[in-house]
Amino acid sequence: MKAETLGSTIEQRKSGGTLNENQEYTRVAQLRYVNFYPKPSKANFMESNSKSPNRSRDLFEEAQKYLPGGVSRNTIFRKPNPVYAKFGKGCYVTDVEGVARLDVANNMASLIHGHACPDVVDAVQQQLHQGTAFTMATIAELEFAKLLCDRVPHFEKLRFVNSGTEAVMACIKAARCFTGRSKIAKVEGTYHGTYDYAEVSQKPKPENWGDAQRPASVPVAKGTPQSALDDVIIIPFNNPSLAREILNSEADHLACILLDPMPHRVGLIPASNEFVTMLREWCDQNKALLILDEVITFRSGYAGAGEWFDAKPDLTAMGKIIGGGFPVGAFAGRNEVMDLLDPQHAEIPFPHSGTFSANPITMAAGKVTMSLFDHTAVEDINDLGDYARTTITESIREIGLPACVTGAGSMFRVHLKSEPPTDYRSAYMSASQQQQITWLVNHMFESGFMMINTCTAALSTVMNRQHIDALTDQLSRGFRQLRQAA
Ligand SMILES: Cc1ncc(COP(=O)(O)O)c(C=O)c1O
Repeated sequence: MKAETLGSTIEQRKSGGTLNENQEYTRVAQLRYVNFYPKPSKANFMESNSKSPNRSRDLFEEAQKYLPGGVSRNTIFRKPNPVYAKFGKGCYVTDVEGVARLDVANNMASLIHGHACPDVVDAVQQQLHQGTAFTMATIAELEFAKLLCDRVPHFEKLRFVNSGTEAVMACIKAARCFTGRSKIAKVEGTYHGTYDYAEVSQKPKPENWGDAQRPASVPVAKGTPQSALDDVIIIPFNNPSLAREILNSEADHLACILLDPMPHRVGLIPASNEFVTMLREWCDQNKALLILDEVITFRSGYAGAGEWFDAKPDLTAMGKIIGGGFPVGAFAGRNEVMDLLDPQHAEIPFPHSGTFSANPITMAAGKVTMSLFDHTAVEDINDLGDYARTTITESIREIGLPACVTGAGSMFRVHLKSEPPTDYRSAYMSASQQQQITWLVNHMFESGFMMINTCTAALSTVMNRQHIDALTDQLSRGFRQLRQAA
């Protein structure tokens, strides 16, 4: 009955007027004291939401008639049913039952100012009245491209697309076009979207990942052409000498190296400067391009995580936060490479288009979002990330759970491992670790905190230390229960 109980509390509060942020915070703080979720045991690790009647369950039943598995993207699937959102405001999302949760998932790290940021709402409303899509160029795309290029010294030219997947795909195609070679190298276990080549070895398992000295190219989707697998070379993360050895064996065929500077599935550990420098030097020596996938990490610095390293990429793929909550992608880099797209060539080396690319709504939302994400905002949110990593680590130590926290900037990930992983293989979760993480994420969800399903968080600028304290307290309750169940 928990959802109903909460729902009525919220309705009662609502009838007394609109909740302000402090009231919202107080309510979430109160939720912390309600133990909604059963103690972890082998039997209930697989369990999820309440079994009480609820609207989300009914909606899900209906949705299964029209959408495969009832969903449009697998990331939001939950057992026994996905929960349906009603509205979001600031750092809270309220579901159709009326339950509000502190949102540290932020639509898979794509919202930097939380939900319904007033400045973004205004900008979008204005643009809506002026039209939403034209077979013409717009001032909005020019202004936003200028803003991003001014922000990042290694962005000489930029092109907008509609998703991170598309941005990565365009970077790979540009590299092939530039070098005349077909193969790409990528790090084992990294997620770069759903382009055939980019998704190779995204989630290999011990039984198929092969020898650590020469990781196998493992398909994600059944039916991936063998030619796609043959064209993708897998290197280990943050291991410059072994990576160099593998790259050398394919030196004549590689168009590019694709690198996420802090890959989530590899453990959310930043790439080392030594690793990135080696990749840059290798690319220079072998006339290949270095592509930085900053679809997630662009939030890490004013000029993205690219700031962390001495070496700079040839191309950068972006997405998520730069859309201000709307679908977006972009790729940017050296003039010489971006020139391949220039339609003024008699024969365009890399013809590229997209019906909704640089959509003015996205451009308006993105421009305001990134203007608000100025040096101070970046510094503040990264400080908050440091605070979260420190307080959660302290709690883990105090409780004595074999766990740790990784991440940088405004993101962190909790691992149920005593030592931080160093690569995909050490970050890989056994079946029981996976069950425990799922239990912990569900425990948080049932207690009013929405995290990414690996127990990862991406903070927003509307959060403060009180929110982090509430999150840490609730995580600590989960840690204690896990400790007791061990
Ligand atoms: C590093 C990285 N690259 C690419 C993508 C694909 O972006 P999108 O979901 O917008 O296609 C993602 C999405 O999570 C990502 O994390």
